[in-house]
Amino acid sequence: MDNLFDVAVIGAGPGGYVAAIRCAQLGLNTVCIDDWKNEQGKPSLGGTCLNVGCIPSKALLESSENFERAGHKFVEHGIKVEGLSIDIPAMIARKDKIVKAFTGGIGMLFKKNKITAVHGRGMLQKRYQERGNDDDSWEIRVSAGDEKEQSVRARHIIIATGSTPRTLKLAPVDDVNVLDNAGALALQQTPAKLAIIGAGVIGLELGSVWRRLGAEVTLLEAQADFLSTADEQVAKEAYKALTRDTGLVIHTGVEIKSTEADNDGVKIDYIDRDNNPQSLQADKLIVAVGRIPNTVGLGADAVGLQLDERGYISVDEFCQTSLQNVYAIGDVVRGPMLAHKASEEGVAVAERIASGRQGESGSSIHVDLGMMPWVIYTAPEIAWVGKTEQTLKADGVAYKAGQFPFMANGRARALGETTGFVKILADAESDRILGVHMVGPYVSEMIAEAVVAMEFSASSEDLARIVHAHPSLSESLHEAALGVDKRAIHI
Ligand code: FAD
Ligand code: NAI
Repeated sequence: MDNLFDVAVIGAGPGGYVAAIRCAQLGLNTVCIDDWKNEQGKPSLGGTCLNVGCIPSKALLESSENFERAGHKFVEHGIKVEGLSIDIPAMIARKDKIVKAFTGGIGMLFKKNKITAVHGRGMLQKRYQERGNDDDSWEIRVSAGDEKEQSVRARHIIIATGSTPRTLKLAPVDDVNVLDNAGALALQQTPAKLAIIGAGVIGLELGSVWRRLGAEVTLLEAQADFLSTADEQVAKEAYKALTRDTGLVIHTGVEIKSTEADNDGVKIDYIDRDNNPQSLQADKLIVAVGRIPNTVGLGADAVGLQLDERGYISVDEFCQTSLQNVYAIGDVVRGPMLAHKASEEGVAVAERIASGRQGESGSSIHVDLGMMPWVIYTAPEIAWVGKTEQTLKADGVAYKAGQFPFMANGRARALGETTGFVKILADAESDRILGVHMVGPYVSEMIAEAVVAMEFSASSEDLARIVHAHPSLSESLHEAALGVDKRAIHI
């Protein structure tokens, strides 16, 4: 193949596939190159998020939460379940079915939008122009194992190559005893004892899954503070609930010294926060210590694509790289590693390319990283947007806070999910909302209202004047807004 496209997207995760679809909607002839293969060795679109990330983890969180409810929560409703059991292979098969439907769905969306999908690893080549040709397109070499290399040419490139798990030399992943996120999503039986290095987002979500299914789960976290990026008060409440109710054992401030895997499982030696040596024996170990941007084999050096000191592709606020007509989005660039962030950057770049093509100077749409919602799908769920109380203090910003507990919310009582609260932080003078922090039931859904309010520069008074349905969890947000002015009704 030697076709000239308007846009070539490298990577078909939530950044790349969404960018490709938006480009196609805007009339750009688009190709999307992706190298992901599933366990059956077949190409599978959707990147980390659909194959081994957001979607499969949420499928398992739902299954395990149903099991937990049936075993422990139904009884207070007067529902008795006898002989309760869980069929792990069936649960994993359900997860796989969801993944297959979604990854296959992207292929259909590509067909519908007339996007050319090319399977293989893309490597940037020197510009045609620089090699003496008279057009200004870029070339990408695509290799897919033994198959013949292909060449793709395009006027614009969007790099969306995502991220891969950060590895720990002291705990090499062997896919038997020591697993990364992909292995942790595919276990065929519940390990009796599960250790996790890293009490971040993956550790907490996947730890919750296997804890609810019966594993004894111990998380070993290097940082002294639990969930240090979240609002301190939220982190404290979440720690209490996750250790007390979910039953996770979380050790912070540890230093891993060694791991040793054998037929009996894996032994982890570490120094605890009081400087005492400790040893933990587990059947399985999950390593979840963050992710690194994926630029391996991209040919960045050869074409002079600039990376920053941490290995991310350097971009400006519009995701423009150091090279003309080459953009980068999602996990491979600065900012939170979140699927919705990747997708929104993809849309913004597609619109920028399309507006430039129409002779305008280029759309000024950019994604505001300060308005990015975060959700951790544990029970209780954790969600936030904007500034935390500790960052406002550190920045010397004068603020007011309003807070409302789910314990005093009628819907939360009816659900039997009363842990947690909603907190709103507003500027002391202007009353503009600066941050919203939640821990509690279904806050993954409730956070959207806070994002809309903040995007429209709402004040806490605006939220306090908006009617919220009764009884609903969203009334807690309303009451927290009233609380900023010390006039909450039900507390
Ligand atoms: P990716 O999804 O990583 O996709 C990149 C694609 O590019 C891959 O298919 C890769 O194979 C391909 N590729 C790489 N290099 C090349 C190349 N040279 N040529 C061709 N193809 C290439 N985020 C959320 O917002 N919510 C969640 O609930 C959530 N849960 C998660 C759970 C887990 C267990 C994990 C691991 C992550 C989770 N994330 C979640 C994070 C989310 O998955 C990522 O932020 C998101 O996938 C990033 O999208 P992306 O398009 O930038 O990259
Ligand atoms: P993370 O950054 O959330 O957590 C990693 C944790 O490991 C940190 O707390 C870190 O201090 C700790 N750590 C690092 N080195 C360590 C060591 N040597 N010993 C002990 N602890 C160590 O990264 P995680 O959990 O791997 O997830 C990667 C990313 O994927 C997240 O940051 C997030 O962007 C995304 N994700 C998002 C989800 C969501 O939106 N619900 C769910 C899962 C992942």
